[in-house]
Amino acid sequence: MIHIPKSEYSRRRKALMAQMEPNSIAILPAAAVAIRNRDVEHVYRQDSDFQYLSGFPEPQAVLVLMPGRVHGEYILFCRERNAERELWDGLRAGQEGAIRDFGADDAFPITDIDDILPGLIEGRDRVYSAMGSNPEFDRHLMEWINVIRSKANLGAQPPNEFVALDHLLHDMRLYKSAAEVKVMREAARISAQAHVRAMQACRAGLHEFSLEAELDYEFRKGGAKMPAYGSIVAAGRNSCILHYQQNDAVLKDGDLVLIDAGCEIDCYASDITRTFPVSGKYSAEQKAIYELVLASQEAAFAEIAPNKHWNQAHEATVRVITAGLVKLGLLQGDVDELIAGEAYKAFYMHRAGHWLGMDVHDVGEYKVGGEWRVLEVGMALTVEPGIYIAPDNQSVAKKWRGIGVRIEDDVVVTKTGCEVLTGGVPKTVTEIEALMAQARTQAA
Ligand code: GLY
Ligand code: MN
Ligand code: MN
Repeated sequence: MIHIPKSEYSRRRKALMAQMEPNSIAILPAAAVAIRNRDVEHVYRQDSDFQYLSGFPEPQAVLVLMPGRVHGEYILFCRERNAERELWDGLRAGQEGAIRDFGADDAFPITDIDDILPGLIEGRDRVYSAMGSNPEFDRHLMEWINVIRSKANLGAQPPNEFVALDHLLHDMRLYKSAAEVKVMREAARISAQAHVRAMQACRAGLHEFSLEAELDYEFRKGGAKMPAYGSIVAAGRNSCILHYQQNDAVLKDGDLVLIDAGCEIDCYASDITRTFPVSGKYSAEQKAIYELVLASQEAAFAEIAPNKHWNQAHEATVRVITAGLVKLGLLQGDVDELIAGEAYKAFYMHRAGHWLGMDVHDVGEYKVGGEWRVLEVGMALTVEPGIYIAPDNQSVAKKWRGIGVRIEDDVVVTKTGCEVLTGGVPKTVTEIEALMAQARTQAA
């Protein structure tokens, strides 16, 4: 299995500590276990920030970084080993494992945190935490601070500054290392394989969930624990619902099916969309829209390179799509005026992409000082233009209504442009029709 090496976690902690103000402390909680219903839990997914700095996969843990602490800068509070609980729920690292396998300098039982952590915070001037994102943890933090305050008459020094950790950490997460790109390539490879399998399996009469099952099969077989987000399998007019999740309609000849799905490997997401005909052949209108979306995506790729800014790719898609819609008679007027008046938004209402990483909509600022961010090597993003013609859009000819097309790929900015991570799924009309025809011949 391809994964982030242990040495990388240590490098990240050091890099974060090097940016923290002198005499400070950073405190981050693991994700809580989420109850699905009664005794059933959701599949556990570690908090991305916590994972980024530790690779520690367990709940009920708190990570503490104390730059310059003589007895060790990296402290992990985690569950104790417990034969009875491990028999029911699985193995735990325990404090020994936290030190031996996860590089902690010091580890304590999570049940002792109220006794130990106030003593660690005391005397530090600043506390870095993800303020506001976890109210329960914020409350604990204030309780620990109040323990120190209550001892002020004994000379205890509570910290006097609280700093949002996100700025530093999320900027680090925006730039992907070689190891991260390797994991993202693997997630993309498996997801591409899953899309190919769904195209091959597609037949009229199956349900959207039949194709979702094909995706899940490839994800799990490839070693992914789960999809990076709820898979969208949207046939016919459902393709015009941007975050469609029902996935239970019947696939009909003559309709398109839009699949937006990607798996997660070692907590790194992939995010791919393909739109293909249930019958294996695009109609003239479907093909016209499809090729327009594809042309806009290609124009966007050309705008992804160091020193180009974040919005250039989006602007390129808007121009190609608007001009194309005029040519097809779906919009009327002057292209520049239509762009200025945002007329395209009736058909293309989302942006051309987002940062991609541990979170599918990854962290990182899109603007810096009010200006669009300039792209740099190692930034990862999606490129996902689309055109959606509402089934009830009375201002276009009937033959266009209900067509929804999105094409989405994942890229990493390189020195000369960008590397497409998701090239393993066919994308042109010819390629997709050939793949589907071949699958049908083989099955016959
Ligand atoms: N799958 C969500 C997105 O494409 O942003
Ligand atoms: Mn996306
Ligand atoms: Mn997507």
